Amino acid sequence: APAAPGERAASRVLDVAHRGGSAYAPENTLAAIDAAHEHDATAVEIDVQRSKDGELVVVHDTTLARTTDVEEVFPDRSPYNVADFTLAEIQRLDAGSWFGAEFDGEPLPTLEQALDRLGEHRTGLFLEIKSPELYPGIEDDIAETLKAKPGWASENASGGQRLVIQSFDRASAERSQELLPSVPHGILGRVDEAQIETYAAWADMINPNHTGIDAAYVDRVHEAGMDVVAYTVNEPDDMRAAIGKGVDGIISDYPDVAREVIQEE
Ligand code: G3P
Ligand code: CA
Repeated sequence: APAAPGERAASRVLDVAHRGGSAYAPENTLAAIDAAHEHDATAVEIDVQRSKDGELVVVHDTTLARTTDVEEVFPDRSPYNVADFTLAEIQRLDAGSWFGAEFDGEPLPTLEQALDRLGEHRTGLFLEIKSPELYPGIEDDIAETLKAKPGWASENASGGQRLVIQSFDRASAERSQELLPSVPHGILGRVDEAQIETYAAWADMINPNHTGIDAAYVDRVHEAGMDVVAYTVNEPDDMRAAIGKGVDGIISDYPDVAREVIQEE
């Protein structure tokens, strides 16, 4: 039976771990995926880019400088763009020490490695196509990788893993939706009210910053037949506020805190 008014959000709010459980482990690593699982996240949000030799790599920034030791290992390769390094070079880097000594040597995973780990945990995935303007055709590479893994992008998606693909780049998200029509797709960032209906033609979600929306906006997206998953919500009061506005999910560095707040309802 349909939920009574006011129950919709409380019973169905998704708990999505931002860049993995990134408050507890170095972002966008297998350790972060493990931390998300240990903290009971429903799904993990990760960022996907592409190496020089065409491999899909999980990393947020378009350069390797902030989250790895690339400046020590390859001092003459400034500005350290992800796109200028082969996968073998990228996976030599330490993407864990900056976060804590116990993560020394943790590498940046490939998308395939991340999918395997998520599959082991039976955790869902919010896959962000990050900066696709730097990686022409990356949507095709992502679709190919997902199709090669049973349960992720199959036509019978209901029996497989929960998967959402999203991007700030609307053309990229739409291109991906054309390649993977059975996979829900989301637009990151707030879409102007006047354009919401237009995007409902192919998008399943609008996923804005939690600070930029109110209950009327969330209602409007729902009326157009799409969900709203808000990022990046780290304070319990902000989580309560987002749930009060009617969001369908929360993307947080603290999936355990989000879980507790969701269960308060
Ligand atoms: O999933 C939404 C959120 O990850 C977008 O911001 O910069 O963390 O990729 P960013
Ligand atoms: Ca992201």
